[in-house]
Amino acid sequence: MPSWSATSHGTPRQALTLHPARPLPSLPPNSPYLLLRVTHVALNPADLVCLSLLPAWLPFRRGAVPGLDFAGEVVALGGGVPTEAGLAEGDRVAGAVGLTGVAAGCGTLEGFVVLHWGLVAKVPVGWGGKEAVGVMGIAGQTACAMARRVVGGVGGFRKGDGMKGSRVLVNGASGGVGTVLVQICKGIGAEVVGICSGANEAMVKGLGVDEVIDYRAHDPLEGHLAERFGEQQFDAVLDCVGNQALYTHSPRYLKPEGKFINIVGGWSQGVVPFVTNKLRPCFLGGTPRSYELFLLSATGEAAREAAALVDQGIIKEALIDSVFPMKQAIEAYEKLATGRAKGKVIVEVDNS
Ligand SMILES: NC(=O)c1ccc[n+]([C@@H]2O[C@H](COP(=O)([O-])OP(=O)(O)OC[C@H]3O[C@@H](n4cnc5c(N)ncnc54)[C@H](OP(=O)(O)O)[C@@H]3O)[C@@H](O)[C@H]2O)c1
Repeated sequence: MPSWSATSHGTPRQALTLHPARPLPSLPPNSPYLLLRVTHVALNPADLVCLSLLPAWLPFRRGAVPGLDFAGEVVALGGGVPTEAGLAEGDRVAGAVGLTGVAAGCGTLEGFVVLHWGLVAKVPVGWGGKEAVGVMGIAGQTACAMARRVVGGVGGFRKGDGMKGSRVLVNGASGGVGTVLVQICKGIGAEVVGICSGANEAMVKGLGVDEVIDYRAHDPLEGHLAERFGEQQFDAVLDCVGNQALYTHSPRYLKPEGKFINIVGGWSQGVVPFVTNKLRPCFLGGTPRSYELFLLSATGEAAREAAALVDQGIIKEALIDSVFPMKQAIEAYEKLATGRAKGKVIVEVDNS
């Protein structure tokens, strides 16, 4: 079966090699794992970070397979998979493996993978693999978790409830995370304003967003937000782009008790702003609004929550930018790396 792995590091074209025939992984007997025939992998910016930063000579990166998300069919179950998991051979499932697993080379971009049963969730009835991987992978799981950070508490979301009466601003509304996030916020009752380029306005409006702000048409964007929303401030600003200015100017459009959540990591957009925003007191120029840098820990729980939101009609569609065949995974990664994808970039996996 074919598989992609990192034989160097750098851009996907520099780092990745396609291996036409790798042996089928074996399922340890009595283990809590399952063997999955992968049909679709949705790509994430975190994949690009692993490929560019982690050299292939590191002992744990030998033959490292990229890819966090998966959708596919259960081929076999280990004897340690509990009955209450409700899984059987032939089930269609989707989800994501954690970033540490992918950093250690145990990714999903190959024909068959062995996964812990707890990482998978059943694909909602009527949904295909590429739609499921788009909303039950890292992007959809992150969107669920961000909405949960705003609403608080535990348990599932209910339609029209949870954010009723709230106003939410989503930056990066046209991306993999943003397209799911706006549907959740809208579905559980919020009034949602999305930020994206004018080219994506119709698509984002089609997801139910109440108002779209074209960030390219307003310079500075924060000034426009202050003018437009100074009198009707937001309860939450959810930043899927990592725009620090959006936070520093937020008192002009975010309520004093409102929440600002950024999901973009890395040194300049994650660590430095996090330290500055958390440590600088207001009398030294700090911003008088709460700030959170949220990093997802991929669990099957969030995948199951995303599937439940599909079942409830809260997440209505998976926005798919493009689908590439397995042998064109590099082109798929290059599309993702443009930062201009409208929804998810997906690779259709070859299991031959
Ligand atoms: N913390 C976590 O656990 C976590 C989880 C998942 C993702 N992330 C991070 O979150 C970010 C978003 O992920 P993603 O999967 O949604 O990425 P993505 O799908 O690659 O995002 C692409 C979208 O971003 C939009 N965009 C680019 N620049 C923008 C700007 N200045 N203002 C508004 N929109 C802009 C683009 O829209 P236009 O073409 O219209 O500009 C495009 O639709 C990434 O940095 C990713 O690493 C973090």
